[in-house]
This record gives sequence, C-alpha cells and structure tokens, in this order.
Amino acid sequence: SMDAFITSLMSKMTLDEKIGQLNLVTPGGGILTGAVVSQGVEDNIVKGNVGGMFGIIGTEKIRKAQELAVNKSRLKIPMLFGSDVIHGYKTTFPIPLGLSASWNLDLIERSAQIAGREASADGLNWVFSPMVDIARDPRWGRIAESSGEDPYLGSLIAKAMVKGYQGDNTYAGNDKLMACVKHFALYGAAEAGRDYNAVDMSHQKMYEFYFPPYKAAVEAGVGSVMSSFNEVDGVPATGNKWLLTDVLRKQWGFKGMVTSDYTSVNEMIAHGMGNLQEVSALAVKAGMDMDMVGEGFLTTLKKSVNEGKVSVADINLSCRRILEAKYKLGLFTDPYKFIDEQRSVKEVLNPQLRNFACEAAIKSFVLLKNKNQVLPLKKTGTIALIGPLADSKRNMLGTWAVSGDWQTSVTVVEGLKNVVGDKAKVLYAKGANISNDTGFAHRVNTFGVEIEIDKRSPQQMLEEALSIAKQADVIVAAVGEAADMSGEAASRTSIDIPESQRELLAALVKTGKPVVLVLFNGRPLSLSWENENVDAILDVWFGGHEAGNAIADVLFGDYNPSGRLTATFPRNVGQVPIYYNHKITGRPYDVNNRFTSKYLDLSDNSPLYPFGYGLSYTTFSYGDLKIDKTSIRKGESIKVKVDVKNTGNYDGVETVQLYIQDLVASIAPVSKKLKGFQQISLKKGESKTVEFTITEQDLRFYNAALQYVSEPGEFKVFVGTHSRDVKEAGFSLK
Ligand code: IFM
Repeated sequence: SMDAFITSLMSKMTLDEKIGQLNLVTPGGGILTGAVVSQGVEDNIVKGNVGGMFGIIGTEKIRKAQELAVNKSRLKIPMLFGSDVIHGYKTTFPIPLGLSASWNLDLIERSAQIAGREASADGLNWVFSPMVDIARDPRWGRIAESSGEDPYLGSLIAKAMVKGYQGDNTYAGNDKLMACVKHFALYGAAEAGRDYNAVDMSHQKMYEFYFPPYKAAVEAGVGSVMSSFNEVDGVPATGNKWLLTDVLRKQWGFKGMVTSDYTSVNEMIAHGMGNLQEVSALAVKAGMDMDMVGEGFLTTLKKSVNEGKVSVADINLSCRRILEAKYKLGLFTDPYKFIDEQRSVKEVLNPQLRNFACEAAIKSFVLLKNKNQVLPLKKTGTIALIGPLADSKRNMLGTWAVSGDWQTSVTVVEGLKNVVGDKAKVLYAKGANISNDTGFAHRVNTFGVEIEIDKRSPQQMLEEALSIAKQADVIVAAVGEAADMSGEAASRTSIDIPESQRELLAALVKTGKPVVLVLFNGRPLSLSWENENVDAILDVWFGGHEAGNAIADVLFGDYNPSGRLTATFPRNVGQVPIYYNHKITGRPYDVNNRFTSKYLDLSDNSPLYPFGYGLSYTTFSYGDLKIDKTSIRKGESIKVKVDVKNTGNYDGVETVQLYIQDLVASIAPVSKKLKGFQQISLKKGESKTVEFTITEQDLRFYNAALQYVSEPGEFKVFVGTHSRDVKEAGFSLK
C-alpha cells in the first residue's frame, strides 16, 4: 500500500533528504516573477535536495532532470514538474475572467482537460491552476486570472477545473495531472487593489464570500494548494497555521500537499515576521510542505531541528505529503510516465486544439452595447479596422500564458480577412499607441509581453486612421489594454482605456460613421464615455490563440454572442470595490435624502454594467415567476418556473439566472446571492420553460459562530437575464 511504501522509503531517508523533498526550484530562463532563481540546480538534484521543479519546459529538459534524480540521487526519488498552465498550455484559451464569462461549466472543464492533456504530453505532471481568488476590485490586475466576484459561480468553476485536470483523481492514464488551487487565501482582496498588499477581513466574510471556491476545489479532490502572498489576520498566509492547518486540513479535510508561492516563505522577513530561520520554521509548523524557490527550508530547517525549534515529526509530515503526491501520480512506478516524446510531438500545439480555442473565445465574448443593431456587420462594403490592438499578435493571448506562443496567434486584421474573404474590403490603421505615457509603457514592458510603440507622432497616426475611416461604411476600433496591463504586478489606479486611445475614439466618433468598439481588457474598465458615444461594444478580453477568428465570427454574426459578466463594471473607479451581492446598509440609497449611502458626484449607486449582464443579437422576454408553494420546511423544496421567449431575429443562447435574498437574519443579509443558472438555446420565436428547485440548503449562510445555517423567515427569489433585471416572488422558511 501507499502508506507502507512511503513508511519504508522514509525509514531510509536522512533528515537532509527529507528536507530536500520540501524544496521546489526553478532553473530560470523563463519568465521570472521574483528577484531570485534557484542556483546549482543540477548538483542539488543529485544530492537529493530537490523535490520538484517548475519553469522547465519540454520533454527533453524534463527527461534530463528526471534522469538526474532517478539515476544519480541516492534514493532515486522522482521529481514533480510543475508549471503555470492558467488558460491553456501552449495552445492558449481566453483569460480565465473571459472563460468564466461563458458561464459554461462544460466548456470550462474541457478547457482544463485539454490544457492538462497538452501539458502532460509535454512532460509536466503538475499545474499551478485553478486560480480561484474572488476579486471585487478591478484595480487588481490578477482579476484577469480569476473567475470574478461570485462565490457560487466561482465554486462551480473551481470544481470543473479540478475535474478537468485530475479526472477521477486516480491519475490512471498519463493525460491527467495534479492541480494546485491558489492562492490560499484572500489574495483577491488586497487593499486598494494593489498587488501583494495586506488583507484584513472578518471571518464571517471570509467564509461567506471568499473561501467557498477554495473549499470547492478541496471537495473536488484537488491534490495541492498554493498559499498566497498576503497576510490573513495579521499573519502571512504562508506561515498561518489557522489557515493552512485548522481551516484547510481540520475543517475541510484536505489531504494533499501545500506549496508556498514564489519566495513567499522568505518574504515573511519583509513582512516583519523574523529572520530566514524563524520564518521557515513558522511556515513548516503552520502546515507548509513545499518551499518555492526561496530555499529557506533547505538552508535552515536542519538547524531548527537541532535547536529544538522544529520537530522531526513536522518535517516527516510534509515530506510524507509530497511523497504521497508522487505516489498517487504513479511516479514511483514510472518516473517517466508523463515524459513521452511521441505524445508530445503529436499533441502539443495540435491544430485540433485550435478549434476548441476558437469555440472558447467565441463563448467568452460579452456584448455590452448594440445601438440600432449595428452588429452583426454585413460581409459587404468597406470596413475600417483601427486601433493598436487590431494587428498585434503579442497581445492576443493575454497575461500569464507562460508557454503560449504568441507568434502563432490570429490578429483581428487576419480574422476579419479570413472571414470576409473578397466579399468586403478591410482597411487597417493603427491610429494610436496603447499609451503615450512612456513611464507607464516602461513599467508595463518590464514584464513579459511588450507594449509596441510606434515612432510616428500621435497626429500622423490619427490622420492615417481618419483617412481610412472616411472611406469606410463602418469603423471597428480595436482598443483597450495591452496584455500585460493586467495579471500579476499589474495594478492600476485608473481603469479607463488609456488616454491616447480615448482621443482616437473621440476622433472616430466625430466622423459620424458607426463605431464598433472591440474591447481588449483583463479587468472591468470604466466605460461611461464609451457607452454614451459609440454604437456597439464587444468585450473580447484576451481571447487566446484564435482571438482574431473568433472576433470576426461574432462581429459578422456567424455566432451570436452569449457571454455574461462575472465581475461588475463600475461607472468610474471611485465606486470600487463594487459588486452585486452587497450589503444594504441602514441608509439605503434614496435620491431625495442626502443622508443616505451615496456619492455626491454620481447620480446613483448602480454600476454601468452589472454582474451577469451581456446582450445578444436577439432579445429575450421573461414571463412572471410561477412558484409552487410559498413556504417550505427543512427537507422540502420549492419549484420556480419561468417562461423565456426569444423575441428577436436570431437564434441565441440565454443564461437564466436565479438569485435569492434573505430578508431578515442574524447576520445582516446582502442584496441578493446567485444560487442557480441555466443556459438555454432558443431558436428565434421559440419559448422554453425553465425550472429551478430551491431547498433549505440554498438559504444557508455563515452565522456569527461560523456555522453554515438557515434561519426561518421571509425570502425573495429573483430570476432574470442579469442581476439587476429580474422578476421576483416571495416565500418563507418555516
Ligand atoms: O503560480 C505562480 C503564482 O500564481 C504567482 N507567483 C509565481 C507562481 C509560480 O510561477
């Protein structure tokens, strides 16, 4: 059995070798996110000082490294090989915020399954995904890697991703690998949206709104967890025993291994938690198993054992968990199980994966505005395609596509030409740089994908754009953020489209031609001016390899867009954090009463585009809710039915959303909580009855004692097309 095997192996291990298993290194050469890379990697592998590696890509290199461990180290223990497979491996899918906007769990599960298959064909056995941090603050750049603001949807997505990567958790074949849910915990709540900043929140809020997706991943059997950089209750997550042991293991029953984030053990020195020996001891005693890159464990834990500051039992526990992960993956039976050169040649960047990438991109796009049905475009006449994101391969994949090959991505120019052929004329001009602020561009460019800067003056670029706009029937403006303006270390204090591009847009609008905005963004942006002034807005996030083709398919109506926002778009950055499931306050907004919760310089508190929002080329109408009883007891359920009709001129997909509001409770309730949704296809003119079941379990919340309970009383149920456009009914729990 696994236990006996590992007990026997560990009986042969020296303390040094056990500590060696706790060491996770990166050889560098890829994208680095910290100041240091691991030194002397090969020597350390041979000495038994390395448990796993990441940032080493390709079967050839991985095989060489595994051979060192298996042939040259004393106990021949195989290594883990991890990587950031965030939205695809080499074949890149839309950024996670975009994928989540599909509200399509099957699609999301397939995205993880396909990415895991491609990554495992290239030698990897471990992915640092899913990222499930709830994010309510679009200033925080890593909202791009998240599934947005909602714990219910976020939990379903977390489960789907774990299932996609790990399958039935037996790792029977070599196309399923170990997932790593991250960043535990609360990383998305960094104060002021500034990356790596402190977090401080009540336990009730953690359990109710921020913990559910991590917990869902644990329930799905995720093999590993990554700690976050931030502190929780004043103690960095990486050294937080309450978090890593009491919550994760004791309350949730997590049985796998925990890794730190990149040098997050060492960073506890800067947090002010002690010297390297002290913070390493703090981490391992808190329940941290693997130390990513910093080597604090490797260099200080033995000393701590000798001085009685850490027990051998603490180290045994972590070592055992890492060996168990390797055992479950099947690496002790075959250390080369995932290293199959033939599979790699066949499966990595297989053109068929692009079909999926295209489907995923199409389903991620959100139509935010469509005045006078300017979309879909006709495949005739002349189209002026203008903007710094129209012809930029570098910017199609989006943030954190560490293995993605941007050179083979499809741009908007290419996509439009592919789809219209000779039927219409597509003219292109860049029109503006992403930003004219060279300091800003420099800070973005220090990390990965570059903002491409055109040397021409803004006037020259604008003149060129206007000259083609004049010849066109319609203007398509591909504008927004460059790929690396979101993601890690990409916080912004403004969430506007950069000024150079807003000036371009204003000039295009002035021509009087219809303007369709194709918006690239890794976060909710404030689009108040754009919403007032352009004709249509299609949010395309960063669509991945097939972005250009997918955009063209949707613009020309070969596919009707169906994405729905999973993060609220504010009117301006001053409303942030803004989210749909907010507290009501004792002084809810009242236009006639100054002393209510509001801003003086905003006419109401509502966002520009609410959670769940997204248009279609067709329209849907909702009948009144039919509810089969008005009160239930525990163990009973209520059926809610609604007729949804496609009342427009196109077939379409509608995501019918169900929300519940608790009217009176011992913890002040929030406006509403998503508790169900169904995605339906409706042919034009077609109606369907959608039915939901509500049980007492849907009415539960975390009370002051952190028990997940329901309380008798009155509730409202809302069903509709987004969080602010709903039909309602009432019921009670006896
Ligand atoms: O997995 C990532 C994490 O999301 C951020 N820091 C670096 C890790 C490894 O690349």
